[in-house]
Amino acid sequence: MNENVIYHVPVLLKESVDGMNIRPDGTYVDMTFGGGGHSREILGRLGDGGRLLGFDQDADAENNIVNDEHFTFVRSNFRYLKNFLRYYDVESVDAILADLGVSSHHFDDVDRGFSFRFDGKLDMRMNKRAGITAADIVNTYDEEKLADIFYLYGELKNSRKLAAFIIKARADKQIETTEDFLEIIKPLFGREREKKELAKVFQALRIEVNREMDALKEMLNAAVEVLKPGGRLVVITYHSLEDRMVKNMMKAGNVEGKEDKDFFGNLMTPFKLVNTKVIVPNDDEIARNPRSRSAKLRIAEKK
Ligand SMILES: C[S@@+](CC[C@H](N)C(=O)[O-])C[C@H]1O[C@@H](n2cnc3c(N)ncnc32)[C@H](O)[C@@H]1O
Repeated sequence: MNENVIYHVPVLLKESVDGMNIRPDGTYVDMTFGGGGHSREILGRLGDGGRLLGFDQDADAENNIVNDEHFTFVRSNFRYLKNFLRYYDVESVDAILADLGVSSHHFDDVDRGFSFRFDGKLDMRMNKRAGITAADIVNTYDEEKLADIFYLYGELKNSRKLAAFIIKARADKQIETTEDFLEIIKPLFGREREKKELAKVFQALRIEVNREMDALKEMLNAAVEVLKPGGRLVVITYHSLEDRMVKNMMKAGNVEGKEDKDFFGNLMTPFKLVNTKVIVPNDDEIARNPRSRSAKLRIAEKK
């Protein structure tokens, strides 16, 4: 890796950390430590008795660990939030921050297979020690399942055709690298929109490889349980399905958005919305950091 490449530029940094309503002696969780941008901002606001646990399932994030007595790094999937809080003797927390998806580091590291810009093994696992790779998926899933992934997670209109092309090509030769894969799918896209469409295909595979929707659902369910009354849930999403789950959880108390009403017809929900309108980066931030373009921030307070 090139040492001069920045690991990740934090998105909506001030807006999200302000939303956590940090008290110097509170206990906080950063579910997605990454380059540690948000964690450093949180630690800067902590004092005596303050504590921050930072999760990341990617071992590479360990290189960014902050040397601070208030900080504990947890190399794990955030779906195990409750297990690790128990392990570290933390009963409940004052705020949880999640900045979902992958970091710039993932796209910049050729060997990880996240980017269609470089040739590398078609891997895409955030946790290199577990799970199936993107190559496993394109070589083994049946046509319908592949089409579903491209449609659901990539919102690709030609998802069926894409799946059919892959099935046909893999009968001749195993798909191992990003180059192998691009050779198969590129003819499906016009020059003009090629980059956008390829990004969607790669995003869809990445979401499936890392079971991102399942992990998010489990984490949100755990978050409701471990937040103190008055505690904040702060989430930045980059995908419409993720945003819908977060919005549903904050409004209705479950990711499906099933509304439960009391005898008087009042909505029974564990959260009160802090921002009713979603917060997005301003033009200045987007110009500085184009990756922030699709970010959506939602903040809710536990009742
Ligand atoms: C958008 S980046 C976060 C960047 C971070 N806020 C910063 O300022 O550098 C998302 C990070 O979360 C990690 N991640 C994504 N899903 C995860 C999960 N289910 N469990 C643990 N870590 C996860 C990724 O490995 C990545 O490092």
